[in-house]
Amino acid sequence: MPRVTHSVTAAINPACPQPFTIDAAYAASIKLAASGEQYDMVFIDATEENPINYYNLIMNSNMLKMDGVICVQNVSANETRSQEHINDEMGLRSQEMTDVINADTRVKQVALPVEGITVIKRSPPSHLAATMKEIAADDVFRGLNGRCILDRLRLDGKVAYVTGGGQGIGRAFAHALGEAGAKVAVVDLVLEKAEAVAHELHLKGIQSVAMTADISKEKDVKRVVDTIVTNWGKIDIACNNAGINMNSASENTTLDEWDKTFDVNLRGLFMCCQVRVKN
Ligand SMILES: NC(=O)c1ccc[n+]([C@@H]2O[C@H](COP(=O)([O-])OP(=O)(O)OC[C@H]3O[C@@H](n4cnc5c(N)ncnc54)[C@H](O)[C@@H]3O)[C@@H](O)[C@H]2O)c1
Repeated sequence: MPRVTHSVTAAINPACPQPFTIDAAYAASIKLAASGEQYDMVFIDATEENPINYYNLIMNSNMLKMDGVICVQNVSANETRSQEHINDEMGLRSQEMTDVINADTRVKQVALPVEGITVIKRSPPSHLAATMKEIAADDVFRGLNGRCILDRLRLDGKVAYVTGGGQGIGRAFAHALGEAGAKVAVVDLVLEKAEAVAHELHLKGIQSVAMTADISKEKDVKRVVDTIVTNWGKIDIACNNAGINMNSASENTTLDEWDKTFDVNLRGLFMCCQVRVKN
């Protein structure tokens, strides 16, 4: 929602209390400046008291967004030409405000004064005055091949599997990969768990399949990889997450536990990588 200060709309900026005098806007903006607030539009009635203080607060506290504008209402162009008005208090304030703006190299006028309204916006420092074409020629500015970073992180069209995808971290991997656009094979020792996660993914519109396998068994690993490649043509992302932890102290760990742990956590992981690369 655009952030507008001073008089334009109370509803848009509830932090700016009524009545919408410059003093009220100034007081509200001091608080907002401390929290790093920035405005899309600032309205300054240059005929009120202290318009320059308010203008300085906005500019010096960096409260105007890069593309934001300041609308300054002064006495009308015709009136400022008249000596009587220049001499009256409102006319003088208005003229002083105009002088401050004209002398401020941080801003430029973007519209001709229309009957007492001047619109200004930030002007880039002169050493940064490259044309838009020059700026946009850069890959960093445009994104590689014109694609922004979140676009480039998308996994649309990719095929992934997640071992141990039936719960915990594996389940989270499966959701994350699917949300990014990949098709996901949820692989788990326990088929029901894999099916439950695949069902969750389907509910989110993610293409998914549940598969059971014990990744410490070579024939299971081969079957999983072959099936995925047969059905989806390839495997782009191998998320070898499945692992076990018997949680026993070294002195209490049996050799059977040790072998099971290494069979899954190392041998299983190695086989998944090897079969996938050979395929
Ligand atoms: N949770 C942690 O704090 C933590 C810390 C460090 C490392 N890790 C590792 O991250 C991975 C996931 O952790 P988690 O907490 O989600 O684990 P978890 O125990 O909650 O889930 C593991 C899943 O893998 C499946 N699985 C177990 N053995 C399998 C096998 N042989 N073949 C196929 N599937 C099998 C289980 O059925 C289960 O669904 C594990 O490798 C774990 O060692 C976890």
